[in-house]
Amino acid sequence: MTMRPIILAAALAAAAPLPAAAQGQLNLYCSATIEWCTPIARGFERETGIRVTLAQKSTGEMLAQLRAEARNPRGDVWWGGTGDPHVAAGEEGLTQPHESPRIAELHDWAQAQWRQTQGRTVGVYASVLGFGFNTELVARRNLPAPRCWADLLNPAYRGELQMANPNSSGTAYIVIATLVQMMGEEPAFDYLKRLHGSINAYPRSGTAPITAVARGETALSISFVHNAAEEAAAGFPVGHAVPCEGTGYEIGSMSIIRGARNLDNARRFYDWALSAEAQIAASREARKLQTMANRNVPLTDGAPNMATARIIDYDNARFGASAERRRLLARWDREVGALPR
Ligand code: F6P
Repeated sequence: MTMRPIILAAALAAAAPLPAAAQGQLNLYCSATIEWCTPIARGFERETGIRVTLAQKSTGEMLAQLRAEARNPRGDVWWGGTGDPHVAAGEEGLTQPHESPRIAELHDWAQAQWRQTQGRTVGVYASVLGFGFNTELVARRNLPAPRCWADLLNPAYRGELQMANPNSSGTAYIVIATLVQMMGEEPAFDYLKRLHGSINAYPRSGTAPITAVARGETALSISFVHNAAEEAAAGFPVGHAVPCEGTGYEIGSMSIIRGARNLDNARRFYDWALSAEAQIAASREARKLQTMANRNVPLTDGAPNMATARIIDYDNARFGASAERRRLLARWDREVGALPR
């Protein structure tokens, strides 16, 4: 991982000077993609003059880093990434509560995340789990476009499918948690074992599979549908589907790290990042299509609408609990990841 100051002195000097009251710094840990993290960090710098150093990792990897740094925390705020590892971090005492004056401006799901964790984490965006596929590749290989979870077991998809590794990727952990909630644990693990035969790779990051779909390196992926819509908006031949049986979703989250050395700046960032202005500006600059947590942020054109998707009542408390997360990941490693393909 690299810690990199994102203030580009020359560029900023040429654009606008830092506010006169510029002071201090903020160490921002970020588990969205770097295209998301950079505008968030840069927007806060522009607003406050506070220098931001940025470190980006997938959600499961960032949780592991927080654990490793628990006695000597180096980060101040953890922004983005799926909710379960943020919930686990709160339970493990790796993050600390904050009551932002902006909480009342947020969608119910974002507020619920905050209440359920006694203020240790809050929703910043949400999106729905589904499938992405390369429209040209599926046509060329005469593959049906997947519509339902059951379709993914079609033997025609053998070697054509990617999902991320759930140990590193919060997205892939949501795949396991969703299937367990929808099917029951034993049938869900049977399904994952059968699916394993169709998987050509389990990359570390949750967005890697849809990037591979967009580049024509694999035909299908299990991904958040907003990521598929972003690839399509960027001109790649990518379609997506929300599974017909129903599906899970993420509450992308934000937490203040316990022992933050720049606590005042961390709180200031937290409050700013929940504002409609910050969410509109950063999501536009990043061209991201999640549903943002502040109610006053309109859905961007082309963004999947969560309100029309058939989503389950995802149990954030159970699947965010540390012991449950460790147990399910160990079971996946033992019974699925270790199987030959
Ligand atoms: O930034 C894109 C995104 O899909 C977010 O919506 C999500 O919170 C994050 O990636 C999860 O990344 P990972 O699966 O690598 O932990």
